[in-house]
Amino acid sequence: MEAGKRAEAGGRAAEAAGPVFTLEEVGKRNSNRETWLVIHGRVYDVTRFLEEHPGGEEVLLEQAGRDATESFEDVGHSTDAREMLKQYYIGEIHPDDRKKGGSKDQNRTSSGQTSFWSTWLIPIFGALVIGLMYRYYVLDGRSS
Ligand code: HEM
Repeated sequence: MEAGKRAEAGGRAAEAAGPVFTLEEVGKRNSNRETWLVIHGRVYDVTRFLEEHPGGEEVLLEQAGRDATESFEDVGHSTDAREMLKQYYIGEIHPDDRKKGGSKDQNRTSSGQTSFWSTWLIPIFGALVIGLMYRYYVLDGRSS
């Protein structure tokens, strides 16, 4: 019963690296004997980190069993802190339990794939089109 009904989520969540948990399941791990929290749709078991957390264990316990994304971001954690997250990663939150009312958020995947497209590929494509236009209109005009 330990891992509960950790739906191995075939299909949609196939890209997810770990098992999938519901918010309800995470909610049960809200004590200092078992402390789980959700950050950006990922589930972390921070039980053994409680005493080590530079911000103190109280803040972690306050967020235990729920989505701590906002408080985690509000603190402005360093890249080191973000790297540390990996050590405590145990799985993904079920897609139905991801931030409610966040259909906007769902476009922005946690791995930032959508922002990669809009940040890089669109400007690169734009530059290519402008380059080609320059070549055909300006350079061609000059040679004839
Ligand atoms: C697994 C999750 C977390 C990890 C790995 C983590 C890690 C860290 C680390 C390494 C620091 C030192 C400063 C830095 O490097 O940014 C820190 C500070 C802090 N963290 Fe976290 N943290 C986590 C979750 C949280 C959560 C959920 C809160 C909720 C409010 C929180 C609140 C704080 C606070 C208040 C500080 C102190 C900032 C200061 O005194 O300058 N942390 N944390």
